[in-house]
Amino acid sequence: MIRSSPDFQRRIVLVTGASRGIGAATAHKFAQQGHPVILTARGKPALDSVAAEIKANGGTAHVMPADLSGSKKAIKFIQTVLRRHPDVCAAVLNAGVAVEGPLIDRDPESFLDEFEVNYFAPVSIAHELALHWMRQKNSGSIIAVSSVTSTVPFPGHANYGASKAALNQMLRNMRIEIGSAKKIHIGIVMPGYTETAMTANLESMLPGSAPEFIAETVWDSFNQEIPESIAGLDNKLVAGMFRFFPALSDKLLQLSASVLVPRKKK
Ligand SMILES: NC(=O)c1ccc[n+]([C@@H]2O[C@H](COP(=O)([O-])OP(=O)(O)OC[C@H]3O[C@@H](n4cnc5c(N)ncnc54)[C@H](OP(=O)(O)O)[C@@H]3O)[C@@H](O)[C@H]2O)c1
Repeated sequence: MIRSSPDFQRRIVLVTGASRGIGAATAHKFAQQGHPVILTARGKPALDSVAAEIKANGGTAHVMPADLSGSKKAIKFIQTVLRRHPDVCAAVLNAGVAVEGPLIDRDPESFLDEFEVNYFAPVSIAHELALHWMRQKNSGSIIAVSSVTSTVPFPGHANYGASKAALNQMLRNMRIEIGSAKKIHIGIVMPGYTETAMTANLESMLPGSAPEFIAETVWDSFNQEIPESIAGLDNKLVAGMFRFFPALSDKLLQLSASVLVPRKKK
């Protein structure tokens, strides 16, 4: 089905972490493009207010609150979504959590917390959706909001970056195993520092991106079936530098971390 066709535009898009920040901006973007959206996060009042704004602008939004930490809860949630809305054509897997701080100060037993939300929940939803579309013989699109910290080591973001790197790698494998044969687009969007509630306790010399800018990148990934997108020229340069000159990149990052990498406010 052609993505700009009215039939495709009537199909529903699920956005996780849609109560604020990048998820809320993404839900607005898809609704503006004519897609009904399902909004999920844990906090219902915030979801209701995003849904009210979408409806006031002429869009359609359904609110389905859920805690997406871990595979079990995520699978139960997506199965409920698919029973109520079997026509879902895309999911933006955006819900995420970050614990900033030096790796050495972390208790390794807490490492799983970020993985439950940033890795196990989105890959379980992606797996369930792929099965659903394969049974329906339908196309579909999964776009994960990852992070540039999945490709470049950023001080203070070690376990968070590791959870996003695991997410990327699972989706890349899913893309080649089932995506191309079954017409399922799998996109990975990697934002850098973006000004949202997640980064409100950080300060940086450089301005962050607006959530609306990341929402545009997510839309482009969906609309043009882009497999991997790093949001912003600055982040593309940092990622390219690390890929081609890893040793030099490590040195530069260590030297410039206090200036370039957002840090906890004192
Ligand atoms: N901000 C950045 O600089 C940045 C950079 C790169 C990537 N990202 C990624 O972009 C995505 C969105 O981040 P953001 O900056 O918009 O953060 P945010 O403002 O903190 O929003 C996070 C969203 O995820 C939801 N969420 C968190 N834990 C959840 C759980 N257990 N179950 C269900 N929903 C949960 C939150 O709602 P509830 O709390 O109500 O559940 C909220 O809607 C995340 O995946 C993040 O890792 C952000």
